[in-house]
Amino acid sequence: MPEFNFNPTSDIATSALTRKPVSGGRFNVHTTSDQAAADLASGITDKTVIITGVSPTGIGADAARAIFQQNPKLLILASRSLENINAVINEIRGSKSVENVKPLLLDLSDLTSVRKAADELLRMTAVVDALINNAGVMMVPNFKTTSEGIEWHFAINHVGHFLFTNLIMPALLKSQDGACVVSVSSAAHRGSIVHFEDINFNEGKNYEKFLAYAQSKSANLLFSVGLTQKLGKKNLRSFGVDPGGIPTTGISRDISMEERIERGWWDKNGNPNTELIPYKSVEQGSANYIVAAFDRTIDDQSGACITDSAIDPTTAPHALDPESAKKLWALSEKLVGQEFSYN
Ligand SMILES: NC(=O)c1ccc[n+]([C@@H]2O[C@H](COP(=O)([O-])OP(=O)(O)OC[C@H]3O[C@@H](n4cnc5c(N)ncnc54)[C@H](OP(=O)(O)O)[C@@H]3O)[C@@H](O)[C@H]2O)c1
Repeated sequence: MPEFNFNPTSDIATSALTRKPVSGGRFNVHTTSDQAAADLASGITDKTVIITGVSPTGIGADAARAIFQQNPKLLILASRSLENINAVINEIRGSKSVENVKPLLLDLSDLTSVRKAADELLRMTAVVDALINNAGVMMVPNFKTTSEGIEWHFAINHVGHFLFTNLIMPALLKSQDGACVVSVSSAAHRGSIVHFEDINFNEGKNYEKFLAYAQSKSANLLFSVGLTQKLGKKNLRSFGVDPGGIPTTGISRDISMEERIERGWWDKNGNPNTELIPYKSVEQGSANYIVAAFDRTIDDQSGACITDSAIDPTTAPHALDPESAKKLWALSEKLVGQEFSYN
């Protein structure tokens, strides 16, 4: 069993990141997105894939680049900034004039925008083969809520994705080979359960930014369990993913250098602290998305979490708990004001 140095009495944010690689399966911690995509190309070519949260330096952008190399029928990049999406599209298509990569404006903090994006998506394509729910925010300094009153991390990282996924379910269920929904989580899921009775930290009075991120990342994993429970029989699979620590993306934008050094994530010279944290390249991180979405040898493990491009045996039990997954589904339906039952 791989070692996971989780010590709830020390800084849980840091201990959540310091774990040894898992092993087993056909891919491993060193696998890059290009290697995984080339190996799994038969599941990508001529398929329709959506990725949420796409900006030039992000993990989602690298997944898009690697998937694009394998000639999907349509690759849709859905995010809150058209400028960022178009920068990624321009980079991945280079000088080629191609029609199979398209932007979709999606602001996950606004349920009206989510509904509009889902309608637009269903006009763009009747079938979706893979949805990679990658967009996220981390450790936002001050408590804030969306206009619907939902805590910011929980809203963007989970609730917006819950609604978007369910609204485009008719297209996912039309995938000939069975579609996959990937929910991007984090090692931080180990830091918090979902507090079903108090997702808003007593309306911000008990707000702690790492716990808010951690709660939302547990919700991401439970969503994959819930999708498997509700839709596994309809040939839908869903995997969580912990991409690993990747210091070059925009996710830490709200964390000052002083705090990164204090937590031990960066060294005193202002560089990623590779002695403490097993950081990865963005290509190693996004390989996990490609393995989760397209490796059909793991179909029977739908609902599990992928890390180091393999099934993670160290996922915290609270984030895989079937009863919690049902509770999360019911809470999410209440928060979006719509039921999704799939009998
Ligand atoms: N990097 C890591 O070490 C690490 C570790 C574990 C897990 N993760 C997870 O990996 C995923 C990708 O993160 P990343 O590291 O690639 O960081 P990133 O570059 O900041 O990517 C996050 C993406 O989400 C988008 N986004 C944020 N708020 C949004 C909203 N309201 N609606 C739609 N899109 C929104 C961002 O758009 P803008 O750039 O336009 O704001 C960005 O494209 C996240 O879910 C993160 O939690 C990352």
